[in-house]
Order: sequence, then C-alpha cells, then structure tokens
Amino acid sequence: MINYMLAKLESQMRQAVQLQQDGRFPAALGGYELICEALRFYEELGYGQEAENIHRLPLAVQPTPAMTLYCHALIQYYRRHYSSALEAIKAALAVSSEITMLHVLKARILTALGDLPGAHETYRFIQDRDPGYDGAHDSLFMLAAEQEMPGPDYYDWLERFHHWLRPATYVEIGLGHGRSLALAGPETRAIGIDPYQGAWEHLNYVCPHTPATLFPVTSDDFFVGHDLREVLERETFDLGFIDGLHLFEQALKDFINLERYARKDSVVLIHDCLPIAPIVAERERCTGFWTGDVWRIIPCLKTFRPDLKIMTIPTKPSGLGVVTNLDATSTVLSDNYDDIVRYYLTLRCPESFEQRRVVCRVGSADEEYVKEQFCGK
Ligand SMILES: C[S@@+](CC[C@H](N)C(=O)[O-])C[C@H]1O[C@@H](n2cnc3c(N)ncnc32)[C@H](O)[C@@H]1O
Repeated sequence: MINYMLAKLESQMRQAVQLQQDGRFPAALGGYELICEALRFYEELGYGQEAENIHRLPLAVQPTPAMTLYCHALIQYYRRHYSSALEAIKAALAVSSEITMLHVLKARILTALGDLPGAHETYRFIQDRDPGYDGAHDSLFMLAAEQEMPGPDYYDWLERFHHWLRPATYVEIGLGHGRSLALAGPETRAIGIDPYQGAWEHLNYVCPHTPATLFPVTSDDFFVGHDLREVLERETFDLGFIDGLHLFEQALKDFINLERYARKDSVVLIHDCLPIAPIVAERERCTGFWTGDVWRIIPCLKTFRPDLKIMTIPTKPSGLGVVTNLDATSTVLSDNYDDIVRYYLTLRCPESFEQRRVVCRVGSADEEYVKEQFCGK
C-alpha cells in the first residue's frame, strides 16, 4: 500500500511539473505543496530515498536559479528543516527580490521558526510593494494562528489522543488527503467516511499498519445505511473525529449520530472549534483557509448537554473540541434538533479572539491536564 501511495505521489508530481511547463504555475504550486507535505510523512516512515527521487522532479525543471532555490526552500519547509529553508529562500531573494511569492515563502518560514515579528515585517513589505497580491492571505491567517495558539498543531494533538487511548476503534468523518486518518496506530480498527475523498486513489496518506476501511458517502448516508456496530464489529467506538462538512448543523448531526455508538468514556474530537477570524467562520466560504461555523457546536453542547465534559484545545490552526462523558441514550439534541439549529444560527461569531476563547470554552493546552481530563478512564 505504501508503494502504491509513493507511485501515486510520483505520478502527481509529474503532473504538477507538466502544469508548470504549460504555464499553469498556481496549479503546479498547489500540487508541489500537497505532495511535499505528504512526502515528509513517508520520509519519517523510512522511505527517504523514494521521497528524494520524487523531490528531484520539480527541482530538475525550474527555469531559473531563483526558482530552483525557491523549490528547494519549499521542500525543506515541508521537511521542517526550517533553517535550511530560510537560507535557500534568502539566496533566491538575493537574485530575484522582485518575485513576490519568494517573500511570501520567507514569511511562512519565519512563522514556522517562531520569528513572528520578522514574519509580520515581511508581510507588511509584501502589502506595501504589491497591494494587489492576494496569495498571502492564508499565510497571514496562519501567522495569526501561530501567535494566538503557539505549540503543537491539531495533528500533534490527534496523535497524542491515539497514543493515550490506544483506541481499538476509530471513526473519522471528513478525510481531506488522509493525513489525520493515517495517525491510527497498529492496534486500531479505523474507518473513514467522506463522499469525495473516500477512496484510496484520492488520498495521499495511508496508515502503515492496517489501512483503514473507507466509505465514500456523506456522513448522513453512512449513518442511515450502516450500523456502526456491524462495521466496527464492536458495540462502541473509542475515538471519533468530526472534520467533515464545516457547517454547524452538520457537525451537530455528526455528533448526534456518533454518540449513539459511544460509551461514557469514548472521546469525540471536533475540528475547527476556534476560528482565527470571523471571516474564516462565515457559512459561505470566502477565504482559502476556512473553518465554517462549526464553533457554534461548543456553546450549543455546553447549554443543551451540561452532562458532557467539553473543552476546546487552543491548537493551530483552528482549535480542537474534545468531548467525553457521552451518553448513547440521550435524545435531547435529536429531539430538539430543528429548534437548536434555528437558534444557534442566530449567534454572532464574537469579533475578538478573547471573546471567542470564552464562547468556545477554551481550556488549558497543557498535555497532562488534557490527558487527565479526557483520557483518565
Ligand atoms: C478539512 S477536510 C478533512 C481533513 C482531514 N480530516 C485532516 O485533518 O487531514 C474536510 C473533508 O470533509 C469532507 N466532507 C464534506 N462534506 C462531507 C460530508 N457530508 N460527510 C463526510 N465528509 C464530508 C470533504 O470531502 C473533505 O475531504
């Protein structure tokens, strides 16, 4: 399966290179970013040489020395070799300081290195020099997220939950490229649900131990068509992750459906519960980086289900809700679903991050605290 994934990444990289050669640079760059991010995962699994061969494909075709250095910096950035990435991008800028995207990558690297003032200064420079360039917007959200939520990102937290709980069963709703699903450990029977990405040919990551079982349907269709107990061959699930359609009513429905198969000590994680800015929490997507209004689920559960134990971990880029003390017999949410949705859709996203922290019940990001509160058994 890993060889299948690596062959697929190689073919995707060849396609991205072709896009660049056809003059479709933004599309090519999007491909390079996704592929480089995935290659780090396989490097960590010991497939360094295979990853290296794939990295060489774009490096070999860059039209100028500055672009070769840019490409090298991007590869090092995704490898998390940030100092070497910074050296490469500075060298690229020394020859071609007129290319805005080089400055943007420099700002992203500075963010990753924790030099937030340096990143801010670089973004200001970009805005002054090239006000029409909108390629920096998402990176600015990342910078703000780094500032407000320093420390491990939500993948690191997911990994921790897998480590603490060693779940026998894991259910993920919303797969993206499969990066979060691939965190399931060898002892875990994992299932992934996603109408668009629920097939291996769409994913870039595969769990090295036991590949998950995929269901290429919406979460609603999954729960109508399947009994989770039969799918898991267990009465209950241990760990669930809701990261599907980023609308409050859907996240709530996913929670209701999952809870029916929960034990009291099962844990449900919900992504995107702490938006970095109100604009990324709009219900209509108008930014590249988008959380939707999933955050509403936290005040909603807090009010309607005071029996649940809930907090949001302030982890970049958009917070991770954690819920336990579940009750499979509770019907409060399903009985009042329409009224609850109608009411919570009127709730405004608080303007300031401080207010959002309060409404979204942000707790301490201390590892021991979270482990004790939610994985104590
Ligand atoms: C942000 S991505 C998930 C990212 C992934 N969990 C990760 O952390 O790497 C959201 C995914 O939800 C999927 N999705 C959208 N609507 C859905 C639905 N109704 N049911 C299940 N998945 C859905 C999308 O296809 C997309 O792949």
